[in-house]
Amino acid sequence: MEVCIFRAYEEMSRAAAQEVADVLNAKPNAVLGMATGSTPLGVYQHLVKMHERGEIDFSHVTTFNLDEYVGLPITHPASFRLYLWHRFVSKLPLPLANFHYVNAEKDPHAECARLGKIIQSHPIDVAFIGIGENAHIAFNDPPADFDTEEPYLVVQLDDACRQQQMGEGWFPTLNDVPQQAISMSVRQILKSKSIICTVPDQRKAQAVKDSVQGPITNKTPASILQRHQDMTLYLDPPAASLLK
Ligand code: PGA
Repeated sequence: MEVCIFRAYEEMSRAAAQEVADVLNAKPNAVLGMATGSTPLGVYQHLVKMHERGEIDFSHVTTFNLDEYVGLPITHPASFRLYLWHRFVSKLPLPLANFHYVNAEKDPHAECARLGKIIQSHPIDVAFIGIGENAHIAFNDPPADFDTEEPYLVVQLDDACRQQQMGEGWFPTLNDVPQQAISMSVRQILKSKSIICTVPDQRKAQAVKDSVQGPITNKTPASILQRHQDMTLYLDPPAASLLK
């Protein structure tokens, strides 16, 4: 695992976007695994700007969304489908058929099976992920399932995760945060050829420390990233503040 510490969120986001651009410039039909949430907002802004400047071409790219809440309609402000549509897909020449979002509104198990089939023939070149306050990756909260071979699974969200979503302002109260989600599995994330993980903020400092310097355990889901051969962790100084 390579750890890079940037002076500020903005610089971290630009560098992560540049790394995605480098992958696409080397392989225009690359497959991307894409996170949502507060952290990647800056990365998406940079990717869209790079597209507008003609520095990056998304017209042959395939994308897979990491996760989505069970039961949440696309019209809800916290919907990850809405997030990706507004901030990314609608601004690009990304063919809609190549944008594989997660729709957990009606039958989440059928959706896992549907996506699982598609992703098996589209190995991810670069997964762009974050780490939660509880050290989750995607929505694999502790204790995460490190063994399942299912590409996508239905998961229970723990209290720390649900608190984080409320704290970031995506939901007005804790009761509004769904109890379940669909998540790309840990093993599927690890199959990505390269992983770019961006983590800002003091509130993530303990999770970062445990993930980088602690033992590999499903109680700290992101600790499994220590095993990946091509994994870069991008931090800002507060997120890195507890690292030795
Ligand atoms: P974020 O967290 O919402 O702060 O980006 C990322 C994550 O929880 O995986």
